[in-house]
Amino acid sequence: MKNKIYIETYGCQMNFADSEIVSSILNKAGYTNSRTPDDADYILINTCAIRDNAEQRIRKRLRELKALQRQRPTLKIGILGCMAERLQKQLMEEEDNVSFIVGPDAYRNLPSMLSHIAQGERLAETMLSETETYDDIEPVRYDSNGITAYISIMRGCQNYCAYCVVPYTRGRERSRDPQTIVNEARKLVENGYREVTLLGQNVNSYHWESAKRNAESEELDSHTPSLISVGFPELLDMVASIDPRLRVRFATSHPKDLSDNLLHVMAKHDNICKCIHLPVQSGSARMLKLMNRHYSPEWYLDRIDAIRRILPSCSITTDVIAGFCSETEEDHQATLEMFRRVRYDYAYMFKFSMRPNTYAAKHLQDDIPDDVKTRRLEEIINLQGQIALENNQKEIGKTYEVLVEGVSHRSDQQLFGRNSQNKVIVFDRGDIQPGQYVHVRVTRCTAATLIGTVTTKQ
Ligand code: 5AD
Ligand code: SF4
Repeated sequence: MKNKIYIETYGCQMNFADSEIVSSILNKAGYTNSRTPDDADYILINTCAIRDNAEQRIRKRLRELKALQRQRPTLKIGILGCMAERLQKQLMEEEDNVSFIVGPDAYRNLPSMLSHIAQGERLAETMLSETETYDDIEPVRYDSNGITAYISIMRGCQNYCAYCVVPYTRGRERSRDPQTIVNEARKLVENGYREVTLLGQNVNSYHWESAKRNAESEELDSHTPSLISVGFPELLDMVASIDPRLRVRFATSHPKDLSDNLLHVMAKHDNICKCIHLPVQSGSARMLKLMNRHYSPEWYLDRIDAIRRILPSCSITTDVIAGFCSETEEDHQATLEMFRRVRYDYAYMFKFSMRPNTYAAKHLQDDIPDDVKTRRLEEIINLQGQIALENNQKEIGKTYEVLVEGVSHRSDQQLFGRNSQNKVIVFDRGDIQPGQYVHVRVTRCTAATLIGTVTTKQ
């Protein structure tokens, strides 16, 4: 029987979490995961559509896979995820070696689709759903280190930032039943996992009403009154209370919804990691308005002050876009100023890429020349590189609890792990095992990594 699948994942953490759901659905139907594309019967490419270069990369990969298909004509290739949703049948027309296209809310159809494809059909399923959360599906952690795992807590997004394709590729926002999230985290702890990252496009708008549970299932659980209405702070509290040895992280937070209440829950639990990813996108009030971000630079800086006040040890990271429609030199300077004010520990920095269907595509001009975008991006990258190095230099001499994740990429005599602030720390291996907590004193650093010596093991 032809039943070996190979999943290749591009894009955000959410996509990696989705690939584990896809794997679970197909494993239940009798398919097994292959470690390489070379002996797979089906290659599933879980794609990203966030910027044009993400899509170009997939197109290139599809051309490469043609060679493999020439050697093995029975090999079937499918496109999953955001690019599948965005381009749908167009992909099928343009990429003749693709047999199936499946959008993010249609993964339950995969077993039946694969059986039809085996008989030579080509199929596309891209219906978006208002309710699908895959909450009954236990992800198969097929590519896991056995220590850290993602848990998807919601799907979709309806913030409609002017530049962003996600509301069109992932549909409306919906939250998952908190009890299923807690159960999944509990099971991970039982299986030896030590860290979970709760995922959503905007976790701060997580919201669950147990009336839904009442309507869908038989009865309300009267022993858990906190389930009547659960927002993100309550959910985080529930997950962090499972086991003090389980670290809890989350991503991503929208600045407009970051509440003091959430920060207080983070302060209450030592095992909630002190790291907040708070995408700023721009430091200019005019750009933020045009981007439809629903906050001003002053609001954003007030949220930063709240983090510093309530969680003094918290690290802060961000996303930023250089060269959005009509961005002036003054707007760009405001972004650099924002970086100097906040002094981020890490930043994901991008050149604006116009995406079809978005508000920007319909109403704005992509009028910043590419060389100007590139120059502005480089200025942000250079500034951020310097800030990250200076921030890291201040860590020298401090001691952190580190969850050991694996062998360092540089040397097999060294291990790496992360501290609560999500900074990577490298240290000598000794007799330490991945999955252990150790205390490490920082002795040296680069802009990206801390290097230290172990002081105590647990
Ligand atoms: N062009 C460039 N960057 C984008 N992002 C989202 N849409 C675009 C786009 N059209 C960035 C934002 C977002 C991150 C995931 O990707 O910074 O936070
Ligand atoms: Fe993730 Fe957005 Fe890319 Fe989809 S388009 S994979 S949601 S980053």
